[in-house]
Amino acid sequence: MKITETERRELEEIYSFFFNDEKVQKMKDIPMHRGSNTFNHSFLVAKVAIKRGLRHRRVNLKSILIASILHDYYLYDWRRDRNKLKRHGKNHPYIAAKNAKADFDITEEVQKIIQAHMWPINFREFPRTKEARIVSLADDHVALKEALTSKRYKKRRDEKIAKNIQKLF
Ligand SMILES: [Fe+2]
Ligand SMILES: [Fe+2]
Repeated sequence: MKITETERRELEEIYSFFFNDEKVQKMKDIPMHRGSNTFNHSFLVAKVAIKRGLRHRRVNLKSILIASILHDYYLYDWRRDRNKLKRHGKNHPYIAAKNAKADFDITEEVQKIIQAHMWPINFREFPRTKEARIVSLADDHVALKEALTSKRYKKRRDEKIAKNIQKLF
C-alpha cells in the first residue's frame, strides 16, 4: 500500500503521541518475557505490524498502529497477582481494551483488534479482519523473539530496542 508523505507524518505523530504519554509510559513498569517490558514490547509490535500492513492493499494503518501500541495495556503484573495469573492469557485482551477505551477513547475497530490479539489461546475471539490478523501475528513474532533471547544478551538487546523504538519510520 502506498501512502503519502502526509499520511506517513500523521502515523508518526500518533506514534509519538502515545510514546510520550504518561499513562502509556506506565507500561515500562510492567514486565514481559525475558526481562523485557510491556512498553518496549508494544512499540516493537507496532513497528512490525505497520511494516507488514504497508505490504497489504487497503488496510487501516491508523487502527493497526493504535491497537498495536495498546494491545497489552492491562497495566498489572500478572506474575505477582495470583488471581490474575491463571487466566491472564485469556483475560488481558479484554482488560487492555477496556483501559484503552477509558483512557484514549479508541474506536470500536481498535477495541476489537485488541480483544482478538490472543487467538487461538482465547479461541472465542477470532481475528476477523486483516488488521486484527496483522496485529496478532506481529505480537507472536515479537514475543517469540523475546522468548528466544538469552539472558546474556538482555542488556545489549534492551539498548538496541530502546533506540529502535524512538520513531515509527
Ligand atoms: Fe497480549
Ligand atoms: Fe503482546
